[in-house]
Amino acid sequence: MRLSRLCLMVFLCSLSASPLAWATSPPRSENGLALTPPMGFNDWAHYGCHISQRLFVKTAQALLRTGLARLGYRDVNIDDCWMARHRNAYGQLVARRTLFPRGLKWLGHYLHAHGLKFGIYEDAGYKTCQGRPGMYGHIREDVRTFAAWGVDYLKLDYCDPPMNRYPGLDFSQVAHRVYGAVSRALRHSGRAIVFSCSPPAYVYGQPKAYAEVMSWIGSVCNLWRTDDDVYDAWKSILANYQGNVGLWRYAHPGAWNDPDMLEVGNPGLTLCEQRTQFSLWAEMAAPLLISTDVAHLSPQALAILSNRAVIAVDQDPLGVEARRVRREGPIDILSRPLVGGAHAVVFFNRGPAVARATVRLTTLGIRRGPVLLRNLWTGKAAVARDRITVRVASHGVVMFRIRSVGSHPAIRPAPTRADWVHN
Ligand code: GLA
Repeated sequence: MRLSRLCLMVFLCSLSASPLAWATSPPRSENGLALTPPMGFNDWAHYGCHISQRLFVKTAQALLRTGLARLGYRDVNIDDCWMARHRNAYGQLVARRTLFPRGLKWLGHYLHAHGLKFGIYEDAGYKTCQGRPGMYGHIREDVRTFAAWGVDYLKLDYCDPPMNRYPGLDFSQVAHRVYGAVSRALRHSGRAIVFSCSPPAYVYGQPKAYAEVMSWIGSVCNLWRTDDDVYDAWKSILANYQGNVGLWRYAHPGAWNDPDMLEVGNPGLTLCEQRTQFSLWAEMAAPLLISTDVAHLSPQALAILSNRAVIAVDQDPLGVEARRVRREGPIDILSRPLVGGAHAVVFFNRGPAVARATVRLTTLGIRRGPVLLRNLWTGKAAVARDRITVRVASHGVVMFRIRSVGSHPAIRPAPTRADWVHN
């Protein structure tokens, strides 16, 4: 990728007061799980049905070897296609022997023995999206099976909903009943199992049905897919960002909007775009689920996934998803409060050319300057008194952690102007 050099100018200007208020004491999740967004691996976006025991073992080893597991990427999640076409004589789900010769209980053990977690995929309806047996009619026994295999995370899709069993009920009402039943079964399973749900994604683009589903999803699920399936192209990243960015009010510790997996490491995005997806997902408190060949990550992709400062934004314990506080031409400006009074801010350029934007601190939800800005991709710092001006590469971001200078006495008098390099 071509490197583009960008400048950020921080103007020291006069103070003004801020009336912007944000949620202060978020509710907790019902099952007490996923108090920060899940982090780990899911095979689907990169591998589809080409999965095997070997892939998950290799991925687990790579997560450990690269240091990604230490940074929090510990969920190793199997997506669709793991199960045989038919249940066994006792009505139980079985893994495909050819793909998982040692079975999934063994795989769960293997992951746990290495300090990792084990996630699995199913569908709440009759069939999964790849035509494998769904959970409907088998909820309790399937949850028992998952618990016996040591599952820590269930992604429950909704490809083939059992609408015919609930005459007179609409999509949202049926989904609420079915997912509610699974949620209860999980809570009684004897294991702590994070619950990832898909219904909103199936009514994406239908405002009424979407609003109905969103009204209950956070009381049943720990996270939920908000958009179409992500794929390895800028168009898809932009679409899933647009679908997610207005949903901040639904997110809180234990309950997260999920714009789908990370494409970092895959060839369809430039490194700049990969950095952008990672920054936007962290700003939106999204799950960080890698979907690429972790064993062969380039040093650049590994560096993106390993950016501790950006991960810390995603994992901030306050759990408040960013709001888009302003749009200026092609630049979206997002801000979220962090624990301890800091803020994370992203300037995102959707457009085809370098662009520039200015924003007042008050618009970002920051009461008063001066503040210290730390650029989370360059590490450079500067001070601003009441507004920030940035130039941002096409499809790029400038991302800051911002805190009051007052709370950091060690900070020396600031430059009036700082130059930033954004690759
Ligand atoms: C749906 C989901 C994807 C993936 C596939 C598997 O499309 O949205 O994330 O799980 O099913 O078939």
